[in-house]
Amino acid sequence: MNELLRWLLFLPPQGSAMAREVDGLHYFVILVTMGGALLVTAVGGYFLVRYRRSVGSEPPRAEAASVPAPWFEYSTIATLFLLFVAWWWIGARQFNQLRVAPEGAMDIYVTGQQWMWKFGYPEGPSSISVLYVPARRPVRLVMTSRDVIHSFFIPEFRVKADVLPGRYTTLWFEAEAPGSYSIFCTEYCGTQHSTMRGEVIALEPEDYARWLDGQAMPAPGAPAGATGGGLAAAARHGCLRCHTTDGTPHLGPTWAGLYGSLVPLDGGGEVVADEAYLTESMMDPRARLHRGYAPIMPSFLGVTEPADVAAIVELIRDLRDAAPAPAAPEVTR
Ligand code: CUA
Repeated sequence: MNELLRWLLFLPPQGSAMAREVDGLHYFVILVTMGGALLVTAVGGYFLVRYRRSVGSEPPRAEAASVPAPWFEYSTIATLFLLFVAWWWIGARQFNQLRVAPEGAMDIYVTGQQWMWKFGYPEGPSSISVLYVPARRPVRLVMTSRDVIHSFFIPEFRVKADVLPGRYTTLWFEAEAPGSYSIFCTEYCGTQHSTMRGEVIALEPEDYARWLDGQAMPAPGAPAGATGGGLAAAARHGCLRCHTTDGTPHLGPTWAGLYGSLVPLDGGGEVVADEAYLTESMMDPRARLHRGYAPIMPSFLGVTEPADVAAIVELIRDLRDAAPAPAAPEVTR
């Protein structure tokens, strides 16, 4: 039922428990109003036919009779009022839940700026456009703007809040499962407003801890002095936070021995990891996902310069004999 209504109303998947509650109220209001509209239409249509003027019919004579108390009207008004109170009560409860983060929520600082989102983590690291969070843990965003009014929206969590210069607004969510969720700016903020997007990457708590560790230290498994340009580009774009170059399993497939190998695909089939597949995986990571890995990699389309893409592919090619590609680790979602 939930899935059917979600599909009928063109709603994105529900990535948090709050999303299901918000949708629940949405369905309730929609179903009752649609039902009411159908009822009125049906009764109107019936009256139209039943009391139509037909040939030879006499208008009924007006008779003075005692008018019964209008119980039907009273009960209709009472029902509508009760529905209004019920919606208001559910809505007010949800509003409070959405406004007030639960105890122990993790704070992340968000700065909106024409035309990007920047994230600062309590442990020190920062990221641009990609927000890393642990799954199944409440996260509170403390947000402000450096210039004009923006608005922070994660459709799959059904949370949205304006981001204002000189003021802090908050918003919280709890991702139910690891995965990647879109961020949009929903306040027109200048000519590049439509490009002000981002991604929430929800990781398993231990993967998140590993990501935090990787932020402070040199990338895991980076061999000293290997293929210069590609390694520098990979480090600059954050590839090495998830991919290793020495065969160690990490958040993404290791690059050691990857080139030219047969990659098992999520949903069946396999593909040879050649230049085309490697490039596609950078630009559209979910097009053909390596089986056993969560779909958490953001797209680097328009982010990574062509020269860097080439250097990274070159690096992966150089690593073809580094080690046999180990099997994918256990599925993390
Ligand atoms: Cu920022 Cu629109």
